[in-house]
Amino acid sequence: REIRLADYQAPDYLIDTIDLTFNLDPIATRVSATMHVRRNGSHSRPLILNGESLKLISIDYDGEKLSEHKFALTDRLLTLPDVREDFVLTIVTEINPAANTALEGLYQSAGNFCTQCEPEGFRRITYFVDRPDILARYSVAIIADELDYPVLLANGNPVSLESAGEGRQIARWVDPHPKPSYLFALVAGKLTALKDTFITQSGRKIDLAIYVEPHNADRCAHAMDSLKKSMRWDEETYGREYDLDVFNIVAVDDFNMGAMENKGLNIFNSRYILAKPDTATDADYAGIESVVAHEYFHNWSGNRVTCRDWFQLSLKEGFTVFRDQEFSADMGSRAVNRIQDVNMLRQIQFAEDAGPQAHPVQPKSYREINNFYTSTVYNKGAEVVRMQRNLLGWETFRRGTDLYFDRFDGQAVTIEDFLQCMSEASGKDLSQFRRWYDVAGTPKLRVSDARLPGQYILKIQQEISGSEPYMMPLDVALFTAEGDPIALDGTGVLVQTLTVCEMHQSWSFSVDVPPNIRIIPSLNRGFTAPVEIHYPYDQEALAILSHADSDPFNRWDAMQKLWLLTLLERIKSGQNGPSESEPPLPEGLSHAFGQILLESDQDPMFVAECISLPSEKYLADQFDENIPFEAIHRERNLLRRQLAEVWESTLLLVYEKNQPADHYRYEPRAVGQRQVRRLVLSYLTTLDRPAWLQLAVTQFDRADNMTESFNALFALSVRPTDVFERLMARFEERWRHDPLIMDKWFALQAQRTDGDALERVRQLMGHPAFSLKNPNRVHALIGSYARGNLMDFHAPDGHGYQWLADRIIEIDGFNPQLAARLATAFNIWKRLDPARAILMKEALVRMNERPACSPDLSEITGKSLGY
Ligand code: ARG
Ligand code: ZN
Repeated sequence: REIRLADYQAPDYLIDTIDLTFNLDPIATRVSATMHVRRNGSHSRPLILNGESLKLISIDYDGEKLSEHKFALTDRLLTLPDVREDFVLTIVTEINPAANTALEGLYQSAGNFCTQCEPEGFRRITYFVDRPDILARYSVAIIADELDYPVLLANGNPVSLESAGEGRQIARWVDPHPKPSYLFALVAGKLTALKDTFITQSGRKIDLAIYVEPHNADRCAHAMDSLKKSMRWDEETYGREYDLDVFNIVAVDDFNMGAMENKGLNIFNSRYILAKPDTATDADYAGIESVVAHEYFHNWSGNRVTCRDWFQLSLKEGFTVFRDQEFSADMGSRAVNRIQDVNMLRQIQFAEDAGPQAHPVQPKSYREINNFYTSTVYNKGAEVVRMQRNLLGWETFRRGTDLYFDRFDGQAVTIEDFLQCMSEASGKDLSQFRRWYDVAGTPKLRVSDARLPGQYILKIQQEISGSEPYMMPLDVALFTAEGDPIALDGTGVLVQTLTVCEMHQSWSFSVDVPPNIRIIPSLNRGFTAPVEIHYPYDQEALAILSHADSDPFNRWDAMQKLWLLTLLERIKSGQNGPSESEPPLPEGLSHAFGQILLESDQDPMFVAECISLPSEKYLADQFDENIPFEAIHRERNLLRRQLAEVWESTLLLVYEKNQPADHYRYEPRAVGQRQVRRLVLSYLTTLDRPAWLQLAVTQFDRADNMTESFNALFALSVRPTDVFERLMARFEERWRHDPLIMDKWFALQAQRTDGDALERVRQLMGHPAFSLKNPNRVHALIGSYARGNLMDFHAPDGHGYQWLADRIIEIDGFNPQLAARLATAFNIWKRLDPARAILMKEALVRMNERPACSPDLSEITGKSLGY
């Protein structure tokens, strides 16, 4: 059954308050919900409540038990056909959290209780009008055994904690802010907290706490630090202050997604909280900083102003991702953050937008909303907000966000409402801009140029499906072949923001450059528009930009294009097997590589990004058909080795110079140094030299932090050696009781291309630290195999496809969301060669045709098959 945006109707009934009492028990939890319900408008339609996997115990209607013939019950709906104008309803249900393996609603993780209600989990807790435009005031009482569940948490402010007799206690919480049901949360368990306080800009003291299992108590400091920085940043940047007396975070091991912004009680996948230097890498630290910020920022962009319906998901997610990206940019290196965000967008969102699951930032219909928590809604959504910031300028944009928060505080609103605020704040007509929300696919800009005496002409053509052009900001600059910036239009201005808004458009710049000197355009600087640019750059032009462009993003992008030119040419000519003699390393590329290495003193993190080759996945994405997996793998490795051969001594120098000074600290310079060493080391280990293997072994042995020890393992994983096996065994021995850390080890094992990778993965499923029930484990082992080991997953006999389909079918039986996410690995099938395509299609059909296939999985597989 399809839900369509066009069918939206205001709710028939509103619920102003709900008082919930939970009598917690692992297999039989009693939930009593008392609601004030009020008719919305004048009509005589029934009250329809959602409810799934609930056992109905009783219904009271204005204080009287409702007899059976006064309501109708199905496995998804509770209907009361004949109700008064306004009334009080008390519904008692019973649920079984221990049996809840879908991790949606109230469930158990490590023996503790927790919840996940977004988007439609609340209906697994009690009968309710479970849609985000029902905003109610919640009060919650939790009754539980005081030894097993000493900590009892819910949204809002704590009111009391008392004995309830018989070894049980009762905690009361009240949330003064009306909220949609998807923001409801409850936690109960044996947890310890890291506590702190934050003084808001208006001088209010907020109690902060991060709750974790006792053995993780020493791994919360970085998350707490990130939280306090986020709170300050949102005050300073958006003028947004926190609005409750307490802010609680809880980390749980079993969680389908990254984290959840429940009002005053954020619940996190423990991988985005737990870190100390010897257990977490720099990348983990960065992930924690950004997810803690993301969830905190939702307090305004999502909670105080929420979504009318799930078609507005990007209203909160796109905006909040943009906010957390800018926060991370302010905390670390702005340029490197932009590079990493765009790299992610290109690898994941562009691919999604070009495949069978493509959908607009604002989808028009869905079957299972859980399938729309996508890179398009999140990351393209963030780019669309970023473009508005760029078109309006920060100050005007900020006036727009002030207006938005002010006007819609306490309401459930739409993307249209957001655009309206931006439009009012700026006086700009954004109706054409709206297309970014409405149409799927990555726009392409075909750019060409021409010279006239004293003039440089830039022509831009939008290559898009349909006839309506997009509106977008495009930053451009010009450089000479010497790498000097060119002043535009006789002024000192070097960069211009073009507003591209027609199918064909051209700009003419007056420039003072003799006709014999080449002009090289630097286009879409900072990636101001999420588009693909087609301009006929040659090696020479790219080499110049990679060195001389004043925009670090475009320097990096020029390097990427340089890699791509060489790699694609080699892959295409090597599709039918390796050439007899190795192709020579192109001079320009090699020179650019060497030049950038020399900069590692100034900005090691930027250098690390620049010397990272495009991933195998990104290379595969460049082929519309017959993806040559073997050639991609081979040519990419060959190019790495050739560069290492030529620059061996410089690489060693860079490695040694970037030894971080003292003990581990998470700060930009040290992170950059470790990152550049990671890259350099993995170049060096492509060379068959004992000395470089030894360098990695020494790094592993001496490291006092996970980043350096894991980077050493990573570098050694490129070739099968005894020493690699020994270090892997040592890692396992040290961390095997800590599954979150073992995820790194599982992922590395799954991505090894030596030997029989699938057989290795199969055996690791029996590892004591592995569990199919835990989403992190599944992504680490199974996900890394399917997405990170293209060579083995796409083995010509199809063993990877069949095996993955079997695992997905198994997982679909207990966690449909997780199954559906894994199944997106099959989106690629139409771009495979005919033999592989048939095999992958078979696997898709097999999953799709099972009568027991969940709606989640059937929507993904069905779309993939083109149904
Ligand atoms: N709103 C959460 C976030 O952006 C994501 C929750 C999605 N959960 C889900 N089961 N689909 O951080
Ligand atoms: Zn979010």
